[in-house]
Amino acid sequence: MPELAYVNGTWSTIEAACVSIDDRGFQFGDGVYEVIRSYDGRLWALDRHLRRLEHSMRAIALTGAPTAEVKPRIIELFERGQMREGVVYLQVTRGVAPRRHAYNAGGQPTVVMTVRAQHAVDIQLYASGVPAITVPEIRWSRRDIKSTNLLGNILAKQRAVESGAYEAIFVEADGRVTEGSSTNVFIVRKGCLLTREKGPHILAGITRDLIVETALEQGISVEERPFTVEEMRAADELFLTGTGTEVLGVVTLDQQRIQMGRVGDLTRALLDAFHERVRQARDD
Ligand code: PDD
Repeated sequence: MPELAYVNGTWSTIEAACVSIDDRGFQFGDGVYEVIRSYDGRLWALDRHLRRLEHSMRAIALTGAPTAEVKPRIIELFERGQMREGVVYLQVTRGVAPRRHAYNAGGQPTVVMTVRAQHAVDIQLYASGVPAITVPEIRWSRRDIKSTNLLGNILAKQRAVESGAYEAIFVEADGRVTEGSSTNVFIVRKGCLLTREKGPHILAGITRDLIVETALEQGISVEERPFTVEEMRAADELFLTGTGTEVLGVVTLDQQRIQMGRVGDLTRALLDAFHERVRQARDD
């Protein structure tokens, strides 16, 4: 099970891989990324991740690393790594240049990839549910771009960890919920799912989309619109979605219980349906 790195055509161990200190990814966070996991030796939702990567690159005018060329490299990395349950991290930055804010269009991007074993969420947490906290939304207004610049996200996650919570959920100044620091947020109200609409306010999570599609297939209604922190506190169920997180119930928010403080029935059912979808390899 080798853990491996790839940097612009060079393969190595992760420890030996390096990029220049003049890389704009290092200097400015001028890059975008994807995190792709595998189940049972198969990369999950690869094409969806590539479409989102393309969206992120187009949004910041990062050229020179077309996804048609990146895709076979990802597959090769994954095959070399021989992981059954693995995680591919992929980062494309605007490359190496003397430190100046403005960039030269058409420069050579840096493509960095690693493959590692997946450290799955403790299975116990799916049964017990997790605590979450709310934090003010302090990030920029283009959260649909999966930027490597994650300062707002990491500061929020650190607050969550320091207060014993699994996740920090961002709330805008007007009280609207956006997403978690590395997850999307759903609430359940009277059997109906509610999640923030796609657009600049949130990252269009791959797991989010799969859960919306799965719910609709099962006849569960889904509303994609802004909801407030009060609606979230009063929800019948609250859960998070993400590549590593899958579908994870939140049972306390800012130390107050969501309903009875137990993982809700719909949350469990959607996690089961998600796993069924994984078994069927239904990810396009
Ligand atoms: N994070 N929102 C944010 C801000 C995220 O960083 C992520 C994923 C998600 C969920 O997206 P998806 O279902 O496509 O994983 C939502 C990745 C896993 C990370 O940064 O490690």
